[in-house]
Amino acid sequence: MCGIVGYIGNRQAYPILIKGLHRLEYRGYDSAGIALINHKNLKVYKAKGKVSELEHFAEQKDISGTIGIAHTRWATHGEPNQKNAHPHYSQSEEIAIIHNGIIENYAVLKEGLMKEGYTFQSQTDTEVLVQLIEYMKKTNNSDLPTAVQLALNQVVGAYAIAVLEKNNPDLIVAARKGSPLVIGIGEDEYFIASDATPIVEYTNKVTYIGEEEIVTIMRNEPLKIKTIGNIEKTPHIQKLEMTLSQLEKGGYPHFMLKEIFEQPKTLNDCMRGRVNVDSDNITLAGFIDNRDKFLNAKRIIITACGTSWHAAQIGMYAIEEFARIPVEVEYSSEFRYRNPVINKDDIVIAISQSGETADTLAAVELAKQHGAFIFGICNVVGSSIPRNTHSGCYTHVGPEIGVASTKAFTAQVTVLTMLAILIGKEKETLSNEEYLKLIKELSLIPDKISEVLQKNSQIAEMSKTFTYASNCIYLGRGYNFPVALEGALKLKEISYIHAEGYPAAEMKHGPIALISNEMPVIAIATQSDTYEKVISNIQEIKARKGRIISIVTEGDEVVRKLSSYSIEVPKTETCLTPLLSVIPLQLLAYHIAVVKGCDVDQPRNLAKSVTVE
Ligand code: G6P
Repeated sequence: MCGIVGYIGNRQAYPILIKGLHRLEYRGYDSAGIALINHKNLKVYKAKGKVSELEHFAEQKDISGTIGIAHTRWATHGEPNQKNAHPHYSQSEEIAIIHNGIIENYAVLKEGLMKEGYTFQSQTDTEVLVQLIEYMKKTNNSDLPTAVQLALNQVVGAYAIAVLEKNNPDLIVAARKGSPLVIGIGEDEYFIASDATPIVEYTNKVTYIGEEEIVTIMRNEPLKIKTIGNIEKTPHIQKLEMTLSQLEKGGYPHFMLKEIFEQPKTLNDCMRGRVNVDSDNITLAGFIDNRDKFLNAKRIIITACGTSWHAAQIGMYAIEEFARIPVEVEYSSEFRYRNPVINKDDIVIAISQSGETADTLAAVELAKQHGAFIFGICNVVGSSIPRNTHSGCYTHVGPEIGVASTKAFTAQVTVLTMLAILIGKEKETLSNEEYLKLIKELSLIPDKISEVLQKNSQIAEMSKTFTYASNCIYLGRGYNFPVALEGALKLKEISYIHAEGYPAAEMKHGPIALISNEMPVIAIATQSDTYEKVISNIQEIKARKGRIISIVTEGDEVVRKLSSYSIEVPKTETCLTPLLSVIPLQLLAYHIAVVKGCDVDQPRNLAKSVTVE
């Protein structure tokens, strides 16, 4: 979703801003723009499409200047075109703004401004905000930070903004509510960005701007932060954990493939210091600090969106099986608006790779208001959700750049599994013997994933024959039903082939009508208590000439014979099978998308970090 970059310092701003926009491309966008102050001019250049289009457009223009802001826009109000792209000028063209978020009351504000003689060039809510800032500045005869503060006091909605003023080449004003913003602090220079990816190569000192805070960034002066309610704040400076090499493809053709192949390592990172085979225990700091809350919880509600919601489903199976606590899994967007029953002895687990998903953040706030204890499972360190939860557990897989989530998913499942086993052990709903067996098996998972990854060329070859499909069905049962959902989502997201995930036995209540020899059916049939049942479901498809691609446990001959293609995964405990069975599905989606010539890392219309509801 929209990306913000800003720079003020002694270097030329343009190359830093363009590079920053490229770093933010992974978030998803459809137009880009830049504003620079040079020789007392405030120049704005914008283009529809990729950042490279913007570079092409700006090539012949004056791009000098040591202060600037830049933006990638993911359209909300108004189609993706040059006019609607950011930055937006104010009426006098003396102020320019970039914005991530939605100004919900923009229509009312616009009407008021039109009565005051303001005219509008775009269909965006953002242009209303910059006009309002100018109006506030003129009518109150105030400086830019005060005008921004006055304007934001009238705004309903979410925003991360950065504002430039023509006559003030030493100042950027930035602010946020609901949408993320981070400031990088260098030697006599500042960087502004939606996340730390554009900043990491210049400095590892950052400060995350808090809710409803406005920051005045002056050349060669300390940052000044205050709330829109006028309370002064001291910047809290943190050290970034991210490294530059994590943001590059490392020889892989796409970030998605790199991230799929990283999974043995990322799961080791996720379990490091937590799953201790030598001392036969699992340690999760977020659990230890809140042990009684977990042991006394009457219910656990897990809230998430997209792939994280699929991980939540697997977590539900594990927590109910091992900890015997009832679990409900909620789409954050539904949960926040349906007046849910939340009690003080409920635990709400919020799962989010980015830690910025607007609906999940809102679900966290709602649960907090009801007095529930909130536990976050997030990847991006320092992002909004972990900062707004009572406790939690980072997944520690490093930056995930491919829009289609892969390594974050397996780590979310791993954290949930560790949590389920740990609660079960402490509640004594899981025997010591089982506990030890699961610890051992968990520690073997990264190596077993490496084995599955060796099937990459087999899957690449096989994927060629499935690119003809316009529909696919994914089937699974038990722990592998959410994997079927996730496999279908991966395919939809990056190859644009319509795909549905179904619990295998549910198929005969509808989807079976779709089965023909043109419909690939991907069946997850690894060894489990329901293995025989899945075979029956596969027979039902076979009888209707459906083409089966199966994911089976090593050595399985029965399902293999029923399948057109079969991919083996190593044997493991049933609760851990999703960590293996999802790998071929990630690779299958990837290779189908590549063969179809799709933009794997930045699929159309999708955003990596969904910061609007
Ligand atoms: C977007 C992404 C998905 C992701 C979902 C939830 O739709 O494209 O890959 O699963 O948001 O994101 P989160 O960061 O909260 O896990």
